[in-house]
Amino acid sequence: ADDGYRLWLKYDKVKNETKRKAYAARLANIEVKLEQDPTLVVILEELKMASQGMLGITPKVSKTLAATLYGVTLEISTIADKKPEAYEIKTINKHSVIQANTTQGLLYGTFAFIQLLQQEESITSLDIKSSPKIQLRMLNHWDNNNGTIERGYAGMSMWKWYELPERIDPRYIAYARSNASIGINGTVLNNVNASARFITSEYLGKVKALADVYRPYHIKVYMSVNFASPKIIGGLKTADPLDPEVRAWWKQKADEIYELIPDFGGFLVKANSEGEPGPMDYGRTHVDGANMLAEAMAPHHGLVIWRAFVYNADPNGDRFAAAYNEFKPFDGKFMSNVIIQVKNGPIDFQVREPISPLFGAMQKTPVSMEFQLTQEYLGWATHWVYEAPMFEENLQTDTYATGKGNTVADVIMGKTFNYPITSMVGVANTGSDRNWTGHPMAQANWFALGKLAWNPNNTSKQIAEEWVKLTFNTDAESQKTIVNLMLNSREIYVNYTNPLGLHHVMGESHHFGPEPWVSKAPRPDWTALYYHKADASGIGFDRTNTGSKTLQQYQPELRKLYENVDTCPLEYLLWFHHVAWDKKLSSGRTVWDEMVSRYYEGVKSVEKMQAEWAKVKGKVDEETFENVEARLKTQLKEALWWRDASVLYFQKFSQMPVAAPYQKPT
Ligand code: GCU
Repeated sequence: ADDGYRLWLKYDKVKNETKRKAYAARLANIEVKLEQDPTLVVILEELKMASQGMLGITPKVSKTLAATLYGVTLEISTIADKKPEAYEIKTINKHSVIQANTTQGLLYGTFAFIQLLQQEESITSLDIKSSPKIQLRMLNHWDNNNGTIERGYAGMSMWKWYELPERIDPRYIAYARSNASIGINGTVLNNVNASARFITSEYLGKVKALADVYRPYHIKVYMSVNFASPKIIGGLKTADPLDPEVRAWWKQKADEIYELIPDFGGFLVKANSEGEPGPMDYGRTHVDGANMLAEAMAPHHGLVIWRAFVYNADPNGDRFAAAYNEFKPFDGKFMSNVIIQVKNGPIDFQVREPISPLFGAMQKTPVSMEFQLTQEYLGWATHWVYEAPMFEENLQTDTYATGKGNTVADVIMGKTFNYPITSMVGVANTGSDRNWTGHPMAQANWFALGKLAWNPNNTSKQIAEEWVKLTFNTDAESQKTIVNLMLNSREIYVNYTNPLGLHHVMGESHHFGPEPWVSKAPRPDWTALYYHKADASGIGFDRTNTGSKTLQQYQPELRKLYENVDTCPLEYLLWFHHVAWDKKLSSGRTVWDEMVSRYYEGVKSVEKMQAEWAKVKGKVDEETFENVEARLKTQLKEALWWRDASVLYFQKFSQMPVAAPYQKPT
């Protein structure tokens, strides 16, 4: 049985005997043309594991290999692409040669080579060149020191702080391998709602132990920091960023960290957001706060990743506008080791968001992409949602920043404005569950983040195909079935939860299930009514010039796409327009009928998912099959809940009947 622990690095025996023998011949020897190095150790270990598992052989390692013998050559040499992480894989006579400028490049090349074998590709005439398009490819863990995970649905934190630094759980190594295999090179260990405790000397010793484990895999460690740390753990009276003692405290803290962890990545900061402390508590700005930390980190080449997830609790305002309004005026004012981390959309990881207007707006200060892998608003770990199509939708949106042809992908790759630092982040969906992500299919979202950070123009389809091949050692027909299920899963979820561009109508606080009726919460912009604005006249948030005007934050060409109610893509309709219930849409249906039909079709699609999944019974391992089968039952139950709750609630305002085909109960 497979319990999912090995993720996409299963290394199961290659079933086709001819292929297996051919591979085995070509992997019989490994020629090492480089100096001893901790990364070389893990590369050789990985090749050994892969060969033993897939081919049943243990390659012979030597410093030279005769041209007459088959083997894999690992070589550090100057390759055409000068990036430190680049690699080439070539077939030269009888040798499969993996070359790179650094051992880090060699590590990625080795995984790419192994993945070819896993996918049963031919390796007889290889000519592959690759390098990442984004520099920082990171996971952000929202893990707390008591072991809980904010918005985590796959168990507890995998970091056992009470056992560290003495005990290294083998899972830390499995985590490092998995990340390295998809090119991830950074990890933020703790929650953005940060406990100051993480940067006490006690905890830094533990963090150092983890950094030591991850170093050979070229995964740098970063920490989320609490802006008020000088007060909370430093005994100072203030955390004012312009106070000399505060500045000295952070400098000393940075020195302490780098003494222990010379390659520490940097700080991630959530400041003046959702009640977290920040420079504005002292009448200062984001720039004052970020630059103060950046100054402390600069001598060590450390980064400050400052989040733009900010908004004010104004009942009549538009949360959509907040990040742009707060950050755009500071473009160019941040030190060069600061990067602004922006969520994909303007609100908060909803099932579909238009892009954040900050992409394309910040010309002199680099912005980076924060996606959420953990399914906070996407059905937690019970609903099957492959997220890459959602990421792709945002990445491929044209910002028109300097004219046509400047997609979000271009912006975050640094192409549009020549950013000196580039980054893509996924808020992790991992936990202590044996299979890491709770829903077995959610492993694909972690995988997709790595692949998109390597190249944001990779397609969700390519990535799904690759993941399925690596994860399920099964026939082509079954693989196709699973890929199709994946590719449709997100739109199905949208349909039965938030059709037509509805957003933020989920349960208050826990963010699970439907609660479009929520009108009171600790903040007005945490209610559902604030967003859907349903009343007798219609539904949706008018963000055009007759409403909040926030569409103006986009370039005119992008604005045009959404501004006209008659041409706005239906997927975004209620994001930008308040429309009458009986307005006729391009689909030929009224707004009400279209909404209802999407809720109902969404539920039917889950039934179809069940039928499709049934086809792979006996084709994927029993444990995964049953796990997914059971979760689909829960998903169907909850899709019905979403549909019925939403339709009944909105019907109070529309006062219109449910169309005939949907009147029979399912
Ligand atoms: C969401 C989420 C919070 C999280 C916040 C953030 O609002 O619900 O739990 O802290 O995002 O990204 O900072």
